[in-house]
Amino acid sequence: MEDKSAKIFIAGHNGLVGSAIVRKLRNLGFTNLILRSHHELDLTRQFDVETFFDIEKPQFVILAAAKVGGIHANNTYPADFISINLQIQTNVIHSSYINGVKKIMFLGSSCIYPKLAEQPIVEEALLTGPLEPTNEWYAIAKIAGIKMCQAYRLQYKWDAISLMPTNLYGANDNFHPENSHVLPALMRRFHEAKVKGAKEVVVWGSGSPLREFLHVDDLADAVVFSMEKYSGLGHVNVGSGLEVTIKELAELVKEVVGFEGELVWDSTKPDGTPRKLMDSSKLAALGWVPKVSLRDGLVDTYRCMPCFFHFAEDKIGIPKVYVKAPESYTSYGVCVVPYAADIKSYEWFKQNFEWVLCNTLLFAEILSVIFHNMIHSARGFYVPCHLYAFIALPLLSNKKWWYLNIID
Ligand SMILES: NC(=O)c1ccc[n+]([C@@H]2O[C@H](COP(=O)([O-])OP(=O)(O)OC[C@H]3O[C@@H](n4cnc5c(N)ncnc54)[C@H](OP(=O)(O)O)[C@@H]3O)[C@@H](O)[C@H]2O)c1
Repeated sequence: MEDKSAKIFIAGHNGLVGSAIVRKLRNLGFTNLILRSHHELDLTRQFDVETFFDIEKPQFVILAAAKVGGIHANNTYPADFISINLQIQTNVIHSSYINGVKKIMFLGSSCIYPKLAEQPIVEEALLTGPLEPTNEWYAIAKIAGIKMCQAYRLQYKWDAISLMPTNLYGANDNFHPENSHVLPALMRRFHEAKVKGAKEVVVWGSGSPLREFLHVDDLADAVVFSMEKYSGLGHVNVGSGLEVTIKELAELVKEVVGFEGELVWDSTKPDGTPRKLMDSSKLAALGWVPKVSLRDGLVDTYRCMPCFFHFAEDKIGIPKVYVKAPESYTSYGVCVVPYAADIKSYEWFKQNFEWVLCNTLLFAEILSVIFHNMIHSARGFYVPCHLYAFIALPLLSNKKWWYLNIID
């Protein structure tokens, strides 16, 4: 990907991983990114995907679209996890090959490895033992994705690679009360406790399990690095190499959020796997190193944590929003999401948040009058339903334009 005008399709660009990859590529000066939201292009629809590839003819593809979730979601929707992921990856990988994509990257996850794999987990541990039953549906789909890349490489000499990231976190994470991973779930609980003035937060388990976390900006860096430097049959692990106990993590999140109450451990509840660490020496040997410390990463994540999730997720089912607003706005019924989030404009956005919010609410009110497809939020705001409204606001600091995406 030496040519900065290369046509790159990032599938799943609104997600935690996809959005970080877009930020990284834009920061590096790539100008020809092809982006389609789930709403615009459902990747489970074979005909639509084939048509899209036939028209757009991307040169590179990064596949970060997937149905993703924690243990609860995996347990509740096993059919969705296996079928949606198999469909997305089969459609995207096959259409990429047929349409002459030069290189594709498939993103999997550390859950592909056997439940009792030796720690730290090396790439060769794949398919050497039974999977963790709670997420085997998702894992089986991801393993099929790795194998599909390998099969296309073997049969067609096509440059298809796979990256297996460890637990990720960062801006644009999923803070859903049931479907989120441990780190955003802790952050949300501490934040809510702080806002409500609660005296304590109870966390399940003993806090002793060891986990590895990687900031999503580091992953995005590894993705671009691997697209440029790695071309091989085997998949590659990506982790920070640093382990923390859940207790240490919870204490750090509590501190970053500023919750001053007590952290109580309910050790009658199960702990889960005692240790999960990836061996990322294969990528390290190519020259890649992570840069973001856990503390800095948590501060960044909290700064970007949405305050509107009560309404957005619980009432309408929107999985994530991006901006953390002042606490006084926690119950408004409109979410505001920076659409093009480079650091400069994000800083500006934060400084001008109140002005932006006023304009956004006004705009939403006007739209709600124009469009009849409306819902009535719990707090009395009329917001348009199933409508993505874009407003362009002049970015005063650098005379660019700022796009806001109002999600109803
Ligand atoms: N998060 C982690 O800790 C982690 C760790 C290791 C690996 N990974 C891997 O990284 C990849 C991305 O994960 P993520 O955390 O970024 O997930 P995410 O935040 O849920 O993002 C996934 C994206 O895929 C889109 N998508 C889902 N179904 C789609 C469909 N049928 N058509 C088009 N788009 C669709 C989603 O759009 P909607 O939201 O609109 O549905 C969303 O934008 C996954 O392959 C995952 O296995 C993640």
